[in-house]
This record gives sequence, structure tokens and C-alpha cells, in this order.
Amino acid sequence: MKTYRITLLPGDGVGREIVPEAVRVLESLGKRRGRCFEFREALVGGAAIDRVGVPLPDETLTAALEADAVLLGAVGGPKWEGLEYAKRPERALLGLREKLGTFANLRPAVLFPMLKDASTLKPEVIEGLDIMVVRELTGGIYFGTPRGVERYEGGERGINTEIYTTPEIERIARIAFGLARKRRRLVTSVDKANVLEATELWRRVVTKVHAEFPDVELRHMYVDNCAMQLIRRPTQFDVIVTTNLFGDILSDEASMLTGSIGMLPSASLGGAVGLYEPIHGSAPDIAGQNIANPIATILSAAMMLRHSFELEDDAAAVERAVHRVLERGYRTPDILQPGMTKTGTREMGGLIADAIA
Ligand code: IPM
Ligand code: MG
Repeated sequence: MKTYRITLLPGDGVGREIVPEAVRVLESLGKRRGRCFEFREALVGGAAIDRVGVPLPDETLTAALEADAVLLGAVGGPKWEGLEYAKRPERALLGLREKLGTFANLRPAVLFPMLKDASTLKPEVIEGLDIMVVRELTGGIYFGTPRGVERYEGGERGINTEIYTTPEIERIARIAFGLARKRRRLVTSVDKANVLEATELWRRVVTKVHAEFPDVELRHMYVDNCAMQLIRRPTQFDVIVTTNLFGDILSDEASMLTGSIGMLPSASLGGAVGLYEPIHGSAPDIAGQNIANPIATILSAAMMLRHSFELEDDAAAVERAVHRVLERGYRTPDILQPGMTKTGTREMGGLIADAIA
């Protein structure tokens, strides 16, 4: 039997509570469907800073590179906010993405029909919502140089640089068009081509790559308009492809359409090893209280089964289990509604693990 080696990086805050729930679900799946998962845990983020002084220790990077896939919880928290930039927990995340080379970040925003009243938007606006945000993850202003804060005659100045090269745009565009082929065949490329030259190039290159995918429709949209359209009529979108920074912002926005950021998984692909994580952060305000929603992480594990292990049926089994538990009325506090059963982190994980067929 093939052994799937998974490196777990729970990290900080609620990460330490939700990753174990995803592990339970995978173990249940393994038992019921005859899969062998091998887990290895490593330090990342604030937890790593506290133990060994750096957010991304070499051993962690090695453990990630040696694995078949990496499941990450979240990093960061108020305890480490005062640290200098290079030593912050968030650097671990950026370092991992860079070192693993995971340039394509898939963030699906799908509405679970039974949660349509949990969204702050009207049910009729979000009915049928199924968006795939494809965020470029290893380039752009997150990594561009020059960067930093320096002194000048008038005081200090902060500098960041947005850079995109043709190959970087081409490869992310191909991922987006390829995904659209398995969906509704519509790609919306989001940029700020009217102001930023780097995204003027983005638009040009995406248009060129589109010629390889004549069966997919391509639309271009400025990021400010996209932010507005996402609220106005979100169902007009199928696949959204965009830069690192715009993708960061728009994926948070898209997540709230679904009712809770606690529901959204992600997959970071295209590199040596796939990296899977919920899109929410470490949520220090609710950490340690057994109230965090583990579903985003459990759905991230499902994405891992699909994209890294090519176990489509198993991925679908996990997703069905999530559906079933929600259908039976169980809700963590972030998605709780009148008449539903309030459920803690561990209970939710256990229910989903038990619901795997
Ligand atoms: C995300 C997060 C990260 C990002 C932070 C924590 C560095 O917001 O994954 O969306 O900006 O990419
Ligand atoms: Mg973000």
C-alpha cells in the first residue's frame, strides 16, 4: 500500500486546534478506504520563534521538502507583533511558499446551500456561488525589490516594488485557463492596468496565453471594479486570476460571501510539494477555546487528496462528509444560526470524521 507522507505545520493560535481535526478526518478516511497516511509535525511561525528563535527553521523546510504534501494551520499573533520584520511569524509562510516554489494559490469560494442565510449578503445574491480565485503566490509586491524602510532628508520612507515577468504571468494564466476548462469556462483576469505598468504587462500576457485556450472566455477587470462586483453580483465569476496582493485582498472578500472565512480552504501548487492551508489566520482572539471552525482546514486536506495525491474520490468523500454534518444542523459559532446545534472545534472534527463513508 502506498504511504502518503504529510508534514503538519500547526503553527500558532487556532492552527494548533484545527490541524489535529483534519488529521482525525484523514485517519478516519484511511481506515475506511484503506489509505496509509504518515504524519510528521514540525515547528513554524511564532511556535518556532519561541522554541528555536526563527520562524522557519531549516528542519521545518527539510520536513516540508521531504513530504508528499504539507498541511499548515496558521501563523502569527500579538505576542510576536513587536518583532522586527524579518523575524515575524508571517515570514515563515512567505519563506515556505518561496522555497517550495508554490506559485499558484487556489482559493475556492463555494456556497454551501445550507449556509446561505449565514452570509451578510442576501441569499438571492449568493445563491449558486462557486468562484475559484487563482492567486499568484511567489511574485509581485510581496517579493519584489527594492523594498524596506530607509531614512532620507525628510524623515523615513517605505518602499515596495511590484514586479511581474512574462514567464510568471504565463504560468499562472495557464493554470487559471486549465482550471476553467473543468468548470464554467470563464476566466476574469483582475489587474490595475490603467495605473500600474506591471499589471499592464499582466493584461497583455494573459491575453496572449488566452490564444491557447480558445474554448475559454476571458474577461479583464480592474481590481476596484472587481471588489465592487464581488458584492454586487458575485455569481458572474467563475475563475478569477490575479496578482499576489490583489488575490490576498479579493480572496478574503470572496470568503465572506460564503458566510465565514472559517469555511475556505486553499491549495498552493506548482512547486516541489503542495502546501495546503485554510485561508484564515491564527485568530488569537478565539484560540484555545475550542470554538474555531475546523472546516477550512478539513477542506484543505480534501484539496490535498485531490491535487497532491490524485485521490479524487477520497477528496469528494471528505467534502460530502462536511456537507452531511452541516445538513444535520451542526454549526461552529462563526456559522451558527437559530435552530442549529452549536458545536465546538473537536466535536465538529469528530462528527466529520465519523461521517466519512
Ligand atoms: C494569506 C495571509 C498571508 C498573505 C499573510 C499571513 C502573510 O493573509 O495567506 O492570505 O498575505 O499571503
Ligand atoms: Mg490574506
